[in-house]
Amino acid sequence: MKGLYTSVLSADFSKLESEIKLVESAGVNGIHCDIMDGHFVPNISYGAMVVSAINKITDLPLDVHLMIDNCDLFIKDFVNAGADYISVHIENNIHLHRTVSLIKSYNIKAGVAINPSTPITHLIEILPFLDFVLIMSVNPGFGGQKFISTTLEKIKCIRKLIKQNKYNCHIEVDGGIDASNIKTVRKAGADMFVAGASIYRAEDKIKATELILKEINSK
Ligand code: DX5
Ligand code: ZN
Repeated sequence: MKGLYTSVLSADFSKLESEIKLVESAGVNGIHCDIMDGHFVPNISYGAMVVSAINKITDLPLDVHLMIDNCDLFIKDFVNAGADYISVHIENNIHLHRTVSLIKSYNIKAGVAINPSTPITHLIEILPFLDFVLIMSVNPGFGGQKFISTTLEKIKCIRKLIKQNKYNCHIEVDGGIDASNIKTVRKAGADMFVAGASIYRAEDKIKATELILKEINSK
């Protein structure tokens, strides 16, 4: 599960296939799909139909980040669309253990996403059940926002918790990631990285991807 996931939110949807093939050829580890409902976040993106289309374009793992209310109602649709990992937010899911169990019942990876202003103590009870935690480093809703630097301390604390308890849980960071900050994010303890605008809005997308991958793998 470790590695770089490109968020197609910032891709050109009129040529999604070539956009995905490009980053695939540059060596990304998976595709991050941002699902927004205009309720939980102030933006609407796309649904399971588009995820299913992306699944036909690539064999890379699909990392589906649900920023929607009533997640339980839609999880099956995203599994059928080809999701390999699904994350749901802590802020709008009251029965998180039930939701995480539902995701896992489909034999795919389950994650919980946490907003910049939500304290990590809210994760303590659910952490042993997770394949990954998704730490938001921007307020969810839009691509191309600035990385919030207090995220680094959160990553360090969660990494410590995972280590102390010997949990088998990855840490994914999402929002404002680029070649200039990814190394610091990795050193704080993250091992899954989402990048949208820094790749899809770059003039040379292959070069931008390679540069980020180089930073992930550097000492
Ligand atoms: C924000 C999304 C992110 C976003 C990342 O709500 O969850 O995945 O698309 O894009 P960048 O890298 O542009 O911040
Ligand atoms: Zn996301």
